[in-house]
Amino acid sequence: MKITRLEVNHLTNPIGYYLDPLTLSYTVTEARGTKTASARVEIAKTPDFAALVYDSGVRDDIDSRAFAPELSLEPETRYFWQVSVTDDAGDCAVSETAFFETAPAALNAQWVKAPFEDPDTHPLLMRKFTLPKKPVCARLNVSGLGLYEAYLNGEKVSEEYLTPFYNDYNHWVQYQTFDVTEQLAEGENAVGFMLGEGWWMGRFGFVAGMRKVYGSQMQLIMRLHVTFEDGSETVLVSDENLLCHRSPILESSIYDGEVYDSRLEVPGFATPSCDLSGWVKAVPAAAPKENLMPRLSPALTAHETFKPAELIHTPAGETVLDFGQEITGTIMFRCRAPKDTRIRLTFGEILQDDNFYTENLRTAKQEYTFIASGDDRLVRPHFTFYGYRFVKVEGLEEVCPDDFTAVVLHSDLRRTGCIETSNPKVNRLFLNALWGQKGNFVDVPTDCPQRDERMGWTGDAQAFCATAHFNMASSAFYRKYLYDMLTEQAGELNGSCPFVVPDVLHQIARVQGAPETSHASCAWGDAATVIPWTNYLFSGDKELLRAQYENMKRWTDYIHTIDVETGDLRLWHTGFHFADWLALDNYHQGSSFGGTDPYFIASAYYLYSTELTAKAAEILELSEDALYYRTLAKEIREAMQQEYFTPTGKLAVDTQTALVLALHFDIAPAAYRPRLIRDLKKKLDDEKIHLTTGFVGTAYLCRTLSENGLTDYAYTLLLNEDYPSWLYEVNMGATTIWERWNSVLPNGKISDTGMNSLNHYAYGAIVEWIYRHAAGLNPDETAPGFKHFTLAPEVDPRFDFVRMSYDSPYGEIKSHWEKKDDTWHFSVTVPFDTQATFIAPGGADGYVNGTLFHESIELIPGSYDIKLI
Ligand code: BGC
Repeated sequence: MKITRLEVNHLTNPIGYYLDPLTLSYTVTEARGTKTASARVEIAKTPDFAALVYDSGVRDDIDSRAFAPELSLEPETRYFWQVSVTDDAGDCAVSETAFFETAPAALNAQWVKAPFEDPDTHPLLMRKFTLPKKPVCARLNVSGLGLYEAYLNGEKVSEEYLTPFYNDYNHWVQYQTFDVTEQLAEGENAVGFMLGEGWWMGRFGFVAGMRKVYGSQMQLIMRLHVTFEDGSETVLVSDENLLCHRSPILESSIYDGEVYDSRLEVPGFATPSCDLSGWVKAVPAAAPKENLMPRLSPALTAHETFKPAELIHTPAGETVLDFGQEITGTIMFRCRAPKDTRIRLTFGEILQDDNFYTENLRTAKQEYTFIASGDDRLVRPHFTFYGYRFVKVEGLEEVCPDDFTAVVLHSDLRRTGCIETSNPKVNRLFLNALWGQKGNFVDVPTDCPQRDERMGWTGDAQAFCATAHFNMASSAFYRKYLYDMLTEQAGELNGSCPFVVPDVLHQIARVQGAPETSHASCAWGDAATVIPWTNYLFSGDKELLRAQYENMKRWTDYIHTIDVETGDLRLWHTGFHFADWLALDNYHQGSSFGGTDPYFIASAYYLYSTELTAKAAEILELSEDALYYRTLAKEIREAMQQEYFTPTGKLAVDTQTALVLALHFDIAPAAYRPRLIRDLKKKLDDEKIHLTTGFVGTAYLCRTLSENGLTDYAYTLLLNEDYPSWLYEVNMGATTIWERWNSVLPNGKISDTGMNSLNHYAYGAIVEWIYRHAAGLNPDETAPGFKHFTLAPEVDPRFDFVRMSYDSPYGEIKSHWEKKDDTWHFSVTVPFDTQATFIAPGGADGYVNGTLFHESIELIPGSYDIKLI
């Protein structure tokens, strides 16, 4: 037996995170038995566990998905922990030692800024200091507005990018804590910082040219806490002892990129040998009024790299590198250009007429300008990121493709799910959705990573959330997003949920003195219930649900208040809604809102959110809440039945999406369901089995078909290759998911420049259907985190095989099927400590490891070969 993957709040060995509530999780593998007989969690302040600060004792109720020890945490303390497990076969093991380290109680430091006349001048900050001996422990706590990079003795302190990430700075700012023990030496040392504008004050938001949305000057706060062997300590904080110099960075911006003049570099920056003459003292900066808080964001780090697949000389005379894959990230290149050479890179998603093209980025410039100092070096931007596949290179005499490397950046989450099928185009679609996730998981779940938007659109986030969880362990990532969301809900919005989180649209309204209207759209605001619930379903972490219940309750209560104010109908019949955004069945040509009555969708989500809140309340044993939301849900369902169905059971809203919601959210009386299914089938037949759905309907369309006996239709939709379909995009060469079904027309022309991103993951939600139905893996809400799950693969003769593996909180679940000797064979794996129900497609009978079963069979941990009769 092995005990692996020890995680704290779904993070590995976190240092300086916000850890309230604290949960510990681990995975048991290679056990001889099938389930845990007993386990014990021990926590100590030293790695030898000599004196325990917590001992669960040997118990049979320790939850490996999320164990919440009763332990009050001391600040700035490293806790070591280990788990021992005995299984039902008597096998036992002790885990390796893991740790977590708490943040300091307070930084007791001053925010500082450079005293430059022009507040837009990017500063470098640094100071030297002497240590009497090499420390045994050193921690750097640091935050910057907008963005910072920290250096110690000439080296970048961490591998993270774009720290301290993106929050609504009105509510909180995260600081990071880094273990810098190894970077300090006896004697002279130096610490230095570069600052960039980031989301805080760079151009951001919809309003063309608008900068300084949150703040107007770059600033920094830091604390360096050094401990020596004899227990003595030195603490260094940001104050006027930090010295400032103008930075070689001349401009930095999330949308527009960066301008870097390497001729302005300061030799020896952040090293003890740096000549500090000419540097000026930092001055105190007004602390942003919000709380400085330990981080919640998982690390944002570099992942895959790509070399150019092709060097293109376009008809327009441009030199363009094609990296072959649309990514989100940065670029690195080797520069050997003579002094004063001005190299400009521009980043784009697609070529048009074989030429470089950026019009669909709207006003985002996506550039990097580097002015050479004449030395041979590796170059990279510091405070920006790009969504791109193509890079136009200007200013170099000769472009050597091998000098360039595309670097993927995304929040560092463990990959969990993988799908491979006998259809290479479906495999490409799976990868496109995965690339969509990587590309839009840059600290905040964004709509897109390239044009002048890149915001945490709630509707997109909720539509893709379950797919994201199947692909990567996403709980910690969404935990931060939901914390952001709650700070917005708890403020002036009275529980409502904004269109985007962090709510930059509200902030812009504040700056402009305009009323705030960017909140409370159905299916967007419902991110406040859908994401917490999905987190729970996939992680099984009840403490996480408890922490996020407040999001759910506030949003549901907000809708209810609107309902009461507008007539107590138990319907949501007012206000602005994005509704079935970008659906193809719009009544009015050219409308983005789709053809489904927005108030039907709003009421459907009112019901859905109320039911999710009720379920969460039940799990959290909040019986009064549970009863209240159950009753409310019943009333909403009845009101919808009266409002939207004829007495003979016809749904009055006649679109694919409306029928999908009526079935999937279980709105109709049971007796009406057969008719709804017939009507949905007919609607699809009318379109020669093609979808017309937008952001709302698409997320549930294939699932609803499968749930109602129409899996063959779901497969047809998946396999369609003509417009509109997923594989149309694949055939057109997409390497990510497009925003629109027709983002690129069959002639290769981009369909529209107003709102047309080639990396928008919302429609990638089809991948959830592949996991849940083609491969058949479904979590069970009564035993979440895959404690119990169903495996109900739905086969289709158009595939020779489907292979899915998913690294659940309990370890690997496998579901493979293939056609062999004219029958279907399955090979499934059920991990330790779980149980699964295998349901044979079409209610067939079969043999599992040679034993006959009828229709379905309960499986205990193990690997099984199943053959249908
Ligand atoms: C974004 C979307 C978002 C939408 C609101 C767009 O501009 O890119 O993905 O959800 O606005 O409907």
